[in-house]
Amino acid sequence: MNHAELIRALPKAELHVHIEGTFEPELMFAIAKRNQVDIPFKSIEEVKQAYNFHNLQSFLDIYYAGANVLIVEQDFYDLAWAYFEKCHEDHVVHTEMFFDPQTHTERGIAFETVLNGLRRACQDAQTKLGISSELIMCFLRHLSEEDAFKTLEQALPYKDVIVGVGLDSSEVGHPPAKFERVFAKARENGFLIVAHAGEEGPAAYVWEALDLLKVNRIDHGVRSEEDPQLLERLVKERMPLTVCPLSNLKLCVVDDMAQHNIKRLLDQGLCVTVNSDDPAYFGGYMNDNFFAITEALNLNEAELKQLAINSFEASFLSEVEKEKWINQIHAL
Ligand code: ADE
Ligand code: ZN
Repeated sequence: MNHAELIRALPKAELHVHIEGTFEPELMFAIAKRNQVDIPFKSIEEVKQAYNFHNLQSFLDIYYAGANVLIVEQDFYDLAWAYFEKCHEDHVVHTEMFFDPQTHTERGIAFETVLNGLRRACQDAQTKLGISSELIMCFLRHLSEEDAFKTLEQALPYKDVIVGVGLDSSEVGHPPAKFERVFAKARENGFLIVAHAGEEGPAAYVWEALDLLKVNRIDHGVRSEEDPQLLERLVKERMPLTVCPLSNLKLCVVDDMAQHNIKRLLDQGLCVTVNSDDPAYFGGYMNDNFFAITEALNLNEAELKQLAINSFEASFLSEVEKEKWINQIHAL
């Protein structure tokens, strides 16, 4: 088996994907037409040309604008279903997807509308495609603590549907400390905890995510490399980092894929995983991310398998399920 064949054959778990970031322009146009809402682009080509980002904020502005066309439950279903079809193509057998309720509730869309659409797609993915999934609700960190508390209240009746809570959006200037009390309440209510930290923000934000939010995983975390003591801790605790290589390239977190630190972090014993983040905007889904790092960093078969194993180890699956998939990887 060559490397491309191995990548396709490996069962994989995706742990860092924003469902609003899987919104392909074709579907965006179709839903906009169905809902009779305007989008600020004349054609699909024009949309794709706008996907030229120079930092996180330049992407977020377009990403939130795209999400505005999502209005009724079926829109959220269609969005998630299209992503599950990509998972199926890429042999992603388990996914833990983020959704940003505030992006929708701010526009007057009910929390239930979002959740019911996503939940129904998750159920169909299990029965029709054999893909297991979990939902992780993210707080938008550019909004207030009070707004995050309100969002958490709305999620409490759905504790059995939402496995965890996370933190995303504009990182710099909005440290994890801003949400310490919200995450304490989320933990008291049994939610698992993740947070974006160390994407554009400094290593200090990763320390805060660990010490103040008490995360089960760090999303991105690539800037942890700047702090050797932090790396030591991440290794010792086997704290997963959900790394998103094509995202880091497109948002200029790295200048060149050959300089990406995912292999260095793997070599140092960190539990790093490969993820697509916002694949419709960053030029590829799970396997495209694997292809890009394999080529740029010359990854070998053992490293590819380790990355896939890490994705299950770092997941919120049961120990029995983790072992089942990891054994399949070893058998390849
Ligand atoms: N929301 C969607 N993608 C994101 C990213 N890469 N960083 C922060 N917030 C996001
Ligand atoms: Zn992200």
